[in-house]
Amino acid sequence: MNQVVARSVIRRLINSQKSPMSTFRSHDDIAIANRQRPGIIGGGARVLGTRMMSAAGENEAAKENKVSVTSYWGVARPKVKREDGSDWPWNCFMPWETYQADVSIDLNKHHKPKGFLDKMAYKTVKLLRLPTDILFKRRYGCRAMMLETVAAVPGMVGGMLLHLKSLRKFQHSGGWIKALLEEAENERMHLMTMVELVQPKWHERLLVLAVQGVFFNAFFVLYILSPKLAHRIVGYLEEEAIHSYTEYLKDIDRGLIENVPAPAISIDYWRLPQDAKLRDVILVIRADEAHHRDVNHFASDIHFEGKELRDAPAPLGYH
Ligand SMILES: [Fe+2]
Ligand SMILES: [Fe+2]
Repeated sequence: MNQVVARSVIRRLINSQKSPMSTFRSHDDIAIANRQRPGIIGGGARVLGTRMMSAAGENEAAKENKVSVTSYWGVARPKVKREDGSDWPWNCFMPWETYQADVSIDLNKHHKPKGFLDKMAYKTVKLLRLPTDILFKRRYGCRAMMLETVAAVPGMVGGMLLHLKSLRKFQHSGGWIKALLEEAENERMHLMTMVELVQPKWHERLLVLAVQGVFFNAFFVLYILSPKLAHRIVGYLEEEAIHSYTEYLKDIDRGLIENVPAPAISIDYWRLPQDAKLRDVILVIRADEAHHRDVNHFASDIHFEGKELRDAPAPLGYH
């Protein structure tokens, strides 16, 4: 067993050392490979909606940057532009995946706990809030960053389990797989934004590791046993997130937290103005949380009515 592990580690080390030479190809290599693909390369630039592909342009830009890039069978990465014509800098999301958050969404909506499961969900969330209150107090930047590492888990777990169910039962999901995975991705973008503002310390990274290990497995089991309880818990967690971001905004308005310029990633992702500030970012993140609250309480309600999620169309297209 130990030999197998050791062999695997050595193989990984060897492969990782090999990769710059074996998989990373020079731009000249890409150009040669491109010349061997008539129709893609010879034709120069072609425009597909907002996408612009230009092998020559790619190579020129690459030569300028002098950075090695991988190639996908010799096909240069499509060149994507912003509306103002500047290069699109992100690979993690594209312009057609961006959106403007609905900041007019009702922030005060609250699902009153009705039965036993509702009360259990509500109490669980209130209990979970205690350690974060003690640990972070009013350090809302740090608090938000740490909580977003947890917030992106339920959507992924729910989406994954529904995906597997769809495969097992040869059934459609009613859009719920997509809706829950969208939520997970949206939460991850909150994290990618927050981490631009607050750099996690080593002990916070360690805490995230431990919390993720516990929370992922706990939520996975809970979702299998009782999706209605799982979604209700997430609904209440989102209510808490709205509260936390409201407090964050209050501290910005009081001048306790500096209203720094918005991170570049947030300006592109939420289509914010170029001079957007941290306050604008928190406003759109809070609106996202309100949307997640409604999605999850809705999902739980469907289960409480004795139906399956696929019986009600998923709220897609909100962002
Ligand atoms: Fe979030
Ligand atoms: Fe959320």
